[in-house]
Amino acid sequence: MSERGKALQELSGKVSLVAGALGGIGEAISSKLADMGSDLILVARDSNGLTRLKEKLMETHRETRIWTYPMDLSSVDEVRGKGKEIVSTSGKVDILVYNAGVNSPHHFLDLDLEEWETIINTNLRGAFLLLKEIVPEMMTKKYGRIVIMSSIVAKTGGLGKANLAYTVSKAGLLGLTRNLAKYLAPYNITVNAVAPSFIETDMLRKTGFDQRLEELKKLHPLGRIGTPEDVANVVAFLVSDASSFITGETVNVNGGLLMD
Ligand SMILES: NC(=O)c1ccc[n+]([C@@H]2O[C@H](COP(=O)([O-])OP(=O)(O)OC[C@H]3O[C@@H](n4cnc5c(N)ncnc54)[C@H](OP(=O)(O)O)[C@@H]3O)[C@@H](O)[C@H]2O)c1
Repeated sequence: MSERGKALQELSGKVSLVAGALGGIGEAISSKLADMGSDLILVARDSNGLTRLKEKLMETHRETRIWTYPMDLSSVDEVRGKGKEIVSTSGKVDILVYNAGVNSPHHFLDLDLEEWETIINTNLRGAFLLLKEIVPEMMTKKYGRIVIMSSIVAKTGGLGKANLAYTVSKAGLLGLTRNLAKYLAPYNITVNAVAPSFIETDMLRKTGFDQRLEELKKLHPLGRIGTPEDVANVVAFLVSDASSFITGETVNVNGGLLMD
């Protein structure tokens, strides 16, 4: 079989839940996992957006089973108690990618409590709540691959006037990744994080960084900012059997901006 054929088969029979399936990186991850043969559960708030993404993916992946699950991951009521419903719809969840995230252009003194809570509750608490719903089924069947979307700012403390709540949430996710990696290792569940630098998506536009693209490119030794596919390729590796001896790790996707 060709290398491309093998990649397409690699996740066949698996079900992947992508939390934060829309937007630049989420769509690239969903599309990549479908390319690798996985069925998909797509989670985000925008119900129409999820339907649009499902229809788009079905055009090229007719065999793939795709379920959409609109959910606000920052809401305790919307997440708590939903695990059984999600798992019973698809039968199981083998792979969970927690990619949902929000940021804001406000820094320490401009950041009010409401905005702090929205960011922490979406990026960090949402991961905790969703994992508690989905992971027990992985533990029962002794198989799981979990990938958590962190950020370079978790390690650098931010770039420029980085948003405090965003940085705290992404650093918290690295602690969550390492703690759960130890806790879940006996169940053959790996937990790894990805730490991108600047990736060309809506988030970059919403935080105003798109006005500084040339400056940002120069910051990266590789001379460019990242693409959503750069991130999706690393997620693909971390959910595949090729990475089965890697857990608790954070993979930088940053064009050499931070080497640690
Ligand atoms: N772009 C970058 O430069 C960069 C760098 C490092 C890390 N990251 C991380 O990569 C991830 C994706 O970022 P992106 O740039 O692709 O951002 P994006 O285009 O704004 O996408 C964000 C995703 O999160 C979902 N989401 C946001 N709030 C949610 C909520 N309360 N409940 C459920 N889903 C929610 C969005 O869907 P809905 O709006 O429909 O809910 C969307 O799917 C984020 O975790 C981000 O922090 C991005």
